[in-house]
Amino acid sequence: MKILIFPDAEAAARETARRIVAQLVAKPDAVLGLATGGTMEPVYAALAAAVARGDCDGRRFTSFNLDEYVGLAGDHPQSYRHYMNRHLFDAIGLPAAQARLPRGDAPDPAEEARRYEAEIAAEGGIDLQLLGIGNNGHIGFNEPTSSLASRTRIKTLTRGTVEANRRFFGPDEQVPSLAITIGIGTILESREALLLATGGAKAEAVAAMVEGPLSAACPASALQMHPRATVICDEEAAARLQLRDYYETVHPGGTEPAITAPKGLERTRT
Ligand code: PGA
Repeated sequence: MKILIFPDAEAAARETARRIVAQLVAKPDAVLGLATGGTMEPVYAALAAAVARGDCDGRRFTSFNLDEYVGLAGDHPQSYRHYMNRHLFDAIGLPAAQARLPRGDAPDPAEEARRYEAEIAAEGGIDLQLLGIGNNGHIGFNEPTSSLASRTRIKTLTRGTVEANRRFFGPDEQVPSLAITIGIGTILESREALLLATGGAKAEAVAAMVEGPLSAACPASALQMHPRATVICDEEAAARLQLRDYYETVHPGGTEPAITAPKGLERTRT
């Protein structure tokens, strides 16, 4: 795992957006895995601004979101479809057929989950998977004890997750407790994974993900098995990392220094 620590949430979000733009420059018709949540809002604002500047093409990629609440239609203001339209898709003009999310109001949610998994496979899998992390270590809505080999399916949200999501709902609205989520096995098949965590509330989950045991108790720890996973965090989210000095030595200020030979040991011509 590559751990990049930035001074604040803004810088961390900017770097996340920069990496998505780089992916779209390298492969404009890439398949992106996208995430929702408060953490991603500045990332999508930066990405939309980059598309507006012409830094990358925002109309050729295909995206699959991680999850959707069961029972909410796409035009419900708290659906993740609505979130994505508001924060990204409308701004960049991504054709609707390329902007995929599970249908929360599908008549048979279990069948919808299977269909969604097959749709990802039919597009050739995910090139770059963007992820947030829950306070309890969830990725997507794969709550603790989710199978690390799971596929897209219905999950029941923990009480803590429901409470964390309550801030997005009105006082008289019931927060949904079921979601269709991409599985951890599906996430692990992405060609590259990029997880963004900001704020002190995530510090414990970040430490468990990076330095804890590989365990379904912290679903994000499955990323330890991903061949190309990068964790981008701010100082607050990094606060509980034991090996922080090491990560900052390898990637000072979140950079990727060039690999050079040790001084005095450079290869000499024979
Ligand atoms: P947040 O959600 O960005 O709103 O904190 C992240 C998550 O639960 O995955």
